[in-house]
Amino acid sequence: MGVLEVVVTAVWVMLPAYVPNNAAVLAGGGRPLDAGRTLGGARLLGDGKTWRGLAAGWLAGLAVALVLDTLRVDIADAVGVDLPGFPLAVVVLFPLGAMLGDVGASFVKRRTGRERGAPFPGVDQLDFVLGSLPLALVAAPSWFLDTFTPGVVGVVLVVTPVLHVLTNGLAYLAGLKTEPY
Ligand code: CTP
Ligand code: MG
Repeated sequence: MGVLEVVVTAVWVMLPAYVPNNAAVLAGGGRPLDAGRTLGGARLLGDGKTWRGLAAGWLAGLAVALVLDTLRVDIADAVGVDLPGFPLAVVVLFPLGAMLGDVGASFVKRRTGRERGAPFPGVDQLDFVLGSLPLALVAAPSWFLDTFTPGVVGVVLVVTPVLHVLTNGLAYLAGLKTEPY
């Protein structure tokens, strides 16, 4: 695979893990996952992790994976890249992993004295990758190893922070997010 093909494959396969975060920002609010509980004087997760955000993010990612599967052959023909499909277990668990990675990052942020919304460079940009890839591996091991070649993983680690900074900056400018990260 050439570099361009690897980049196209990486972005394609990560879309169901990218969209949940943005959906959570749009739909989030209401009861926090931690129900206000604290640990060592700080919130367990904080008010930025809600049930509605988790559910909306998960369902949005699931829907994206289903839609991509139906469009796959046409898009693959159009761009000339043999794009991977999404097995059902991956459709379900991959976006859930993205949301759980985000929850895990908030847990770490609260334990390290960072208030809700405080930036944590690197972690904010890659938490959903760290959550989604392991769950995809569990969901479909051989699909995972075929799809996430070392080249694809490398591109994901480089391209994800760039896309994250861009989309969050846009969401901030559009007034959808209170911080640009
Ligand atoms: N959100 C949510 N539920 C989630 C994830 C996100 O409701 N499970 C919403 C919240 O309104 C949150 C916003 O999306 O404020 C932005 O998400 P994120 O940046 O992950 O949360 P922060 O508010 O920055 O909090 P944290 O410091 O814990 O990351
Ligand atoms: Mg944040």
